[in-house]
Amino acid sequence: MAQPYATFADNCYAGRSVFITGAASGMGLETARAFASKGAEVVMADRDEAGLDRYGAELRQTGARIHTVTVDVGNPESIAGAFAYCDANLARIDNLVTCAAVITAKRIFEQDWAHWHRVLDVNLLGTFFTVQAAVKRMLENPDGGNIVCTASDAGVHGGGGLIADTAYAASKAATLSMVKSVARELAGKKVRINALNPGPTDSPMHSHIDPALKDRIAGNLPMRRMGRPDDMAAAILFLCSDAASFTYGAALDVDGGSMFR
Ligand SMILES: NC(=O)c1ccc[n+]([C@@H]2O[C@H](COP(=O)([O-])OP(=O)(O)OC[C@H]3O[C@@H](n4cnc5c(N)ncnc54)[C@H](O)[C@@H]3O)[C@@H](O)[C@H]2O)c1
Repeated sequence: MAQPYATFADNCYAGRSVFITGAASGMGLETARAFASKGAEVVMADRDEAGLDRYGAELRQTGARIHTVTVDVGNPESIAGAFAYCDANLARIDNLVTCAAVITAKRIFEQDWAHWHRVLDVNLLGTFFTVQAAVKRMLENPDGGNIVCTASDAGVHGGGGLIADTAYAASKAATLSMVKSVARELAGKKVRINALNPGPTDSPMHSHIDPALKDRIAGNLPMRRMGRPDDMAAAILFLCSDAASFTYGAALDVDGGSMFR
């Protein structure tokens, strides 16, 4: 069995903190586990309070320093509340990972104005305003900080298919552009920001998908399997680490080769 985090030294994130949105499920949860296993103090943020309670308790049992914060990233006041919690309870935020998102798969004439607003509010505005709040604090840290925003392969080659629709794909394409714009604006500061482009990944986001369709998706990928949340968490650990100290404003494809088809 592969051990995706073995490359990273034990406790390499000791004394460092990470704020993770979407941390009650899938990639965000696995990223919380990954950082916790390497000694980080972890803020797990999500709108799913029951999930936070369950997985926060599970991680605390390993001895990790875990905070859980209920947040709706589609609501600016809720984001402000989550960061106010951090101001009161953490020395600083060293790393930010944004995974919170909704996925939708509606056909063109099923998508109305409210649908687009819901998707953009959470996936794009929620990501940008979380980044904005973290950057504000990281600029005050002597060591700056690192940010990884989860975009998607759909943001590069489009949605419109059975698992991701136009609104979702557009929100992810805009996230990629947003990451580059923020990187440009923060040039010369000590805050690094990058994007991660996961390919199809077997997480609870796709729990509604027929297993036969998952097999078809996997069969079409050059790697002949869907991604796992730990594939993404390992890439995020890398992007936040000093090993990626010259990786800036980039988008890392972790997609089993889907991008070069
Ligand atoms: N699974 C895939 O195939 C895939 C592929 C490409 C990109 N992605 C992206 O990766 C990221 C993580 O996806 P995942 O597969 O782990 O999904 P997931 O559904 O397992 O987890 C998403 C989490 O985000 C939370 N969330 C949703 N809306 C929120 C809100 N308004 N405020 C706070 N939390 C909210 C959910 O409660 C959930 O815990 C997402 O940004 C997703 O778009 C996923």
